[in-house]
Amino acid sequence: MGKSILITGGAGFIGSHVVRRFVTKYPHYRIVNADKLTYAGNLDNLSDIEKCSNYIFEKADIVDKKTIAALFEKYGFDGVIHLAAESHVDRSISSPDEFVHTNIVGTVNLLNAAMATWKNDHSGKLFYHISTDEVYGSLGKEGMFTEETPYDPRSPYSASKASSDHLVRAYWHTFGIPVVVSNCSNNYGPNQFPEKLIPLAINNIRNNKPVPVYGKGENIRDWLYVEDHASAIDLIFHRGTPGETYNIGGNNEWRNIDLIKLLCRIMDQKLGRPEGTSEKLITYVKDRPGHDLRYAIDSSKLQREFGWSPIPDFSEGLEKTVDWYLSNTLWLERVLSGDYEKYYDRMYSGR
Ligand code: NAD
Ligand code: TYD
Repeated sequence: MGKSILITGGAGFIGSHVVRRFVTKYPHYRIVNADKLTYAGNLDNLSDIEKCSNYIFEKADIVDKKTIAALFEKYGFDGVIHLAAESHVDRSISSPDEFVHTNIVGTVNLLNAAMATWKNDHSGKLFYHISTDEVYGSLGKEGMFTEETPYDPRSPYSASKASSDHLVRAYWHTFGIPVVVSNCSNNYGPNQFPEKLIPLAINNIRNNKPVPVYGKGENIRDWLYVEDHASAIDLIFHRGTPGETYNIGGNNEWRNIDLIKLLCRIMDQKLGRPEGTSEKLITYVKDRPGHDLRYAIDSSKLQREFGWSPIPDFSEGLEKTVDWYLSNTLWLERVLSGDYEKYYDRMYSGR
């Protein structure tokens, strides 16, 4: 058996793509997916690989120190790829506490468990923390975030991620724990929970429901296909230098309203509706408080050092994403039951 690797949050959107990639590409690694299975975690995402002999699922809450220590004891991890988090900005505005618990306290628990297990023997060990470009704050019309951009988080979500990034780097500087951090732009693709813009819009268009666009729809995001994020994570995990930070981005900036209009055109085609039908569903709603205007990532370090580049162009990636959601309506129905419906009503009823 090669490395023993802990992937946290592996039942979520990005985590499930990372788990699948590692389980299938590295059959000699033991991959342990530890996930609390919150509303965002779904084992259906991994049904195709759940029987692989190098894959183990552990239902675990990273906030629970004892459980985390016991997992390290049981599996003696060499590597950690830490994705578990509360990840939705709107939820962090309506209830920030869970973001502090999971994103900050959970990360410290993992760092402490790694430190206790690895002691002073750091050869072949790595704690890889997955973070977001949102920690850098909001850009004006010009410029891009580089690895040197000072942190300026502005939502409870990004503040909790920034805090966890600082703690991860502090464990490197203070205790010598080998860490890497990557900060990535907005992801899209199959298996994303339909509270985030793209899957929410796909699902609403499919059901002829209004597509809520915050404010004037002029906010800009840099969109990356989730498989490209997973391939970057693979490269950084294997070739990244401890103590370093890597920015990951799609070089693919879109105003929300332009993105939604493109999506509407794709949906009209796929659903065989007359052109312009879905656009009529666009509904401008009250803006998100503190809504960051623009994110854009300079990922030249990753491209230069590892030859990484994102693969599909945006309309190709969006089409693949739409195809996936339209052929996985059962997945959609399941994740949209119960708790999420209540959240949706709460979020959008006053807008
Ligand atoms: P997600 O919300 O889809 O999944 C998060 C997963 O973490 C879920 O499976 C959930 O059950 C699990 N989880 C939550 N709290 C937990 C806890 N206390 N203990 C154990 N597991 C817990 O999130 P995602 O979009 O896949 O994001 C994954 C990571 O990537 C996060 O750290 C996020 O900050 C980061 N990131 C996301 C994006 C994006 O666009 N989605 C961009 C950059 C970085
Ligand atoms: P989101 O997918 O929540 O990601 P993030 O806030 O992490 O960037 O939102 C992407 C953009 O879309 C953001 O500018 C907010 C906007 N948005 C809407 O206009 N309508 C919506 O219903 C949602 C969920 C987001």
